[in-house]
Amino acid sequence: MPGTGRVGVGFIGAGMISDAYLANLTRFPDVEVLVIGDIDTERAAAQAAKRGVPRSGTADDVLADPDVEIVVNLTIPAAHVAVSTSALEAGKHVWSEKPIGVDRATAKGLVELAASSGLRLGIAPDTVLGAGWQAAKRAIEGGIIGTPLTAVTSMQWQGPDLMHPNADFLFAKGAGPLFDMGPYYFTALVHLFGPIESVAAFGTKAQATRTIKEGPRTGEVFPVEVPTHLSVLSSFEGGGAAQSLLSNDTALFRHGVFEVNGTEGTIVLPDPNTFGDTPIKVVRPLTGITGFPIEQDWETLPDVGEVFGRGLGVLDIARAIRGGGVHVATGEVGYHVLDTMVAVEESVARREYVDVESTVGPVPSLPESFDPLAATL
Ligand SMILES: NC(=O)c1ccc[n+]([C@@H]2O[C@H](COP(=O)([O-])OP(=O)(O)OC[C@H]3O[C@@H](n4cnc5c(N)ncnc54)[C@H](O)[C@@H]3O)[C@@H](O)[C@H]2O)c1
Repeated sequence: MPGTGRVGVGFIGAGMISDAYLANLTRFPDVEVLVIGDIDTERAAAQAAKRGVPRSGTADDVLADPDVEIVVNLTIPAAHVAVSTSALEAGKHVWSEKPIGVDRATAKGLVELAASSGLRLGIAPDTVLGAGWQAAKRAIEGGIIGTPLTAVTSMQWQGPDLMHPNADFLFAKGAGPLFDMGPYYFTALVHLFGPIESVAAFGTKAQATRTIKEGPRTGEVFPVEVPTHLSVLSSFEGGGAAQSLLSNDTALFRHGVFEVNGTEGTIVLPDPNTFGDTPIKVVRPLTGITGFPIEQDWETLPDVGEVFGRGLGVLDIARAIRGGGVHVATGEVGYHVLDTMVAVEESVARREYVDVESTVGPVPSLPESFDPLAATL
């Protein structure tokens, strides 16, 4: 029965990422996946059968299901706002994959609609809710590196056309390394440093077209509509600055570089496109140099155990719906990150610093005791 007990969930979008969500959300006891919808109803049916979800059909079937309280929007970026809006209008809470949308006006309208409807809007990534990321955030807040000053982040490789069967959407407006991977890095920066105040960026594009290399569309050539190599500088409202490389134009695969430099040390965080299953390490300033190469001692933070995966944000919303508290991965943060990324795009086009208009308050953390496998509702 809606309103009590575990929370009913319906998916719209049964593509590549749906599997990772379903794997977790079908094992977290506080939620129940009831229905999967997609334009491609056969794909929805196949995913439902694979994961033991009782019903499947179209997006409208999900919206019409009275037992669905949260719609999980896993459609492509260009469809995010329209699908999330229709879910809110149907009286459902929404979790949407990133980015929240592809332009400021409609994304802002979505955040306002959620607020005026009294419904929750959560925006990916929820990687930052993983046990590893939350432990790193607690350590920084606890002063492990003193006062955080700057961050260095890097994500570089040949690009997702290497493995994605529908890679064209990842090089269309609203995607590219900036909008596809940037949400992980900028969201993590906002969680740690607070809102971004202004950005400056250069962007280039190595290829005018790319080719699908996996699946039934293999060989299809599609246009590259966005910059595919970006160097971004960000300054934060509360002080501090970051430099971020986001590239689909390098042979070298190096994802997840995320380092925060503070007054008393540097912390190396997990890849923000993971839930934090790599060791968190800290290095202290040298007190002198005895020769080269320089050897530095690394401290490793205690292992956090299982970090879980995609779906934590949905679970956080489900518990907040029942308990009445805040949820962490909000629409406001999702909008601020989109606003930042659009400002980066504008900086690339205009070759100047661009101020980020939106702001957000401090981002809350999950309680240390947050256990996805506990039945709490
Ligand atoms: N693939 C990944 O590794 C990955 C990782 C993290 C996040 N994401 C994000 O997840 C989202 C989905 O990515 P994907 O890789 O699963 O894409 P995909 O192309 O494999 O799947 C998208 C699905 O959405 C359906 N769809 C599109 N518009 C729809 C609409 N209006 N109504 C109903 N169904 C609709 C499509 O038919 C398709 O089945 C994107 O926002 C992407 O940024 C993907």
